[in-house]
Amino acid sequence: MSNPVKIWDLATRVFHVALILLVAGAFITVNLGDEWMSLHGQIGLTLLSLLTFRIFWGFFGGHWSRFSSFSLKPSLVLAYLKDSPASSSSYPGHNPIGSWSALIMILSFLLQALSGLCSDDDVLFSGPLVPFLSEQQVEWATFYHSEIGQPLIISLIAIHVIAVLFYKFILKTDLITPMISGFKQGLHVLVSSNDGWMMRVFALISFGVIFYLTWHFLAA
Ligand code: HEM
Ligand code: HEM
Repeated sequence: MSNPVKIWDLATRVFHVALILLVAGAFITVNLGDEWMSLHGQIGLTLLSLLTFRIFWGFFGGHWSRFSSFSLKPSLVLAYLKDSPASSSSYPGHNPIGSWSALIMILSFLLQALSGLCSDDDVLFSGPLVPFLSEQQVEWATFYHSEIGQPLIISLIAIHVIAVLFYKFILKTDLITPMISGFKQGLHVLVSSNDGWMMRVFALISFGVIFYLTWHFLAA
């Protein structure tokens, strides 16, 4: 058996855990009552920083976290669907379905956070961009945030979790352990993701700058 290869760098793994916790927080706070909405907005701003960081990391992060390593070509998706799971090990990073689902999730959550900035709950809380928009634009954003974005992201999360469990229990391909440890076994790849301390410090500083800018310009 070949040596374990580092696929998911620490930044991507921390991003994933933080995303799960913050999305849970966003859903819990909107259900607790009006006085929790400002915490909802703060969680949303943190999510916005996190997603912006993941996009940045998609260009400057470890090899397999980069969008250029995602397998997005329609021909690859079709070929993968035809002979999965036999071809699983030929994709060290996200396989073609995983690549599309990661990209769609990142963009949908980003849209959710952006529409939140322009939403108004008509009670106590409104997003920081509301004063700059017309009433109709705010109505639209709020409609998207509540009636389109909300069911969309719930469906994406449900499909995602079911897919990951399907891989584990039906296709006998464990994607979960690598998302925790960073390593995959049994691959014949030459390229591993750079996850050294310099890279980790670079990730931390980049996230810090994005977080600072987001809060500086958008905190109410
Ligand atoms: C990805 C991040 C976010 C998620 C997952 C999220 C999720 C949600 C959900 C599930 C609701 C309840 C909708 C309903 O039941 O009608 C909601 C409402 C709301 N959110 Fe967010 N949100 C996010 C970001 C934000 C941000 C950044 C802000 C503003 C700073 C914000 C402001 C609001 C407002 C004002 C409402 C009330 C809308 C209404 O009354 O229909 N959200 N959000
Ligand atoms: C709120 C819930 C969740 C959200 C929003 C979410 C979102 C995401 C996103 C955006 C990615 C792409 C990672 C990247 O390239 O940066 C991903 C990958 C992944 N997630 Fe989740 N996730 C959630 C819950 C879970 C749970 C509960 C599990 C475990 C059962 C899980 C297992 C995985 C695995 C294994 C991958 C890697 C898939 C692959 O190898 O292609 N996720 N998730």
